[in-house]
Amino acid sequence: MHPAIVLGVPEMDADHAVIEPMFERVSTTPDAALADLFREIEAEVIAHFAREEALMEREGVPVLHCHQAQHRLLLGEFAAARPSQDGFDAAALRERFAVLAGFVAGHVGSVDRVTAQFLGGTLDPALVQALRLPDDAA
Ligand SMILES: [Fe+2]
Repeated sequence: MHPAIVLGVPEMDADHAVIEPMFERVSTTPDAALADLFREIEAEVIAHFAREEALMEREGVPVLHCHQAQHRLLLGEFAAARPSQDGFDAAALRERFAVLAGFVAGHVGSVDRVTAQFLGGTLDPALVQALRLPDDAA
């Protein structure tokens, strides 16, 4: 099973290939089981981030701390969307699942992609030098 974006780093690709189908299950999961699915996905993402950060630390990936900060921001989004034990709005939660899936996909396609390029020895240093926030481009 391949993830939507293949990065070429087996550890990362394998984890992403597990997480993506979990989000795809949302559409076929009954409302009453959505909270359990949320907890399942959140736990998997937490475990994945820990594995990915250990890999990056081991390999000396540049901008490690920025990547870790991105992980913390994403986990904050999960925490903010986590359904209450006392009940939740299933339709709103389904929308949050879609937003979270988009955040994760965006993360894989950007920060993870750069990390994978470093790990694979294909990262162009000039690309990193040229990275700017939108406000810095002017
Ligand atoms: Fe990541």
